[in-house]
Amino acid sequence: MLSLLKAHCIDNQIPIITDESLAFMKDFIQKNNVKSILEIGTAYGYSAVSLASDDVHVDTIEKDLVRANEAKKWIEKYHANVTLYMDDALTKDFGDKVYDLIFIDGAKGQYLKFFLKYKKHLKKGGAIICDNLYFHNLKESDTRVRGTKHLIRKLGLFRSFLETNVEFETTFLEIGDGLSISILKD
Ligand SMILES: C[S@@+](CC[C@H](N)C(=O)[O-])C[C@H]1O[C@@H](n2cnc3c(N)ncnc32)[C@H](O)[C@@H]1O
Repeated sequence: MLSLLKAHCIDNQIPIITDESLAFMKDFIQKNNVKSILEIGTAYGYSAVSLASDDVHVDTIEKDLVRANEAKKWIEKYHANVTLYMDDALTKDFGDKVYDLIFIDGAKGQYLKFFLKYKKHLKKGGAIICDNLYFHNLKESDTRVRGTKHLIRKLGLFRSFLETNVEFETTFLEIGDGLSISILKD
């Protein structure tokens, strides 16, 4: 059934999680007994609906109202265990809610800001997963486009931040477009 939503995203050129990354995340959720997820960057809801189940609740946030309204329709259609917030993740206040897993899949240039803002919403031993960390393996020297160079540099700085962060134990995986899994130490 989810193939309908996937095809709809592809038809509308909406970027979605790769099959490989999705399979990894589902396996991670099962093995680590994840019950609550916060996702930053809903788009049309494909990853949120795919990761949710009767046992696993997903809170997801999308700032683009056109995309969020589309996601709302699909979440309702699939009766998914998902709560959608139509808001900007950089300013939204989630109070004292905490999650087993935070999935960062919003604007790539803002990953560090998302990470720093949302780490307080993670349970001890929980994980923050970030997608698209390698930006198609492009290097700064591969492009003349200033915005792209800037983005590649920012993602590099974010990876260095994760590598050296002592609060979290981070593993980088070359699946999809590059995933990081950062476990909050006890
Ligand atoms: C790569 S897409 C998400 C794909 C989705 N997770 C999936 O796999 O089906 C990134 C989305 O993040 C949204 N986004 C970017 N910055 C955001 C922010 N500050 N707050 C909320 N959503 C944001 C964009 O509008 C875009 O729809």
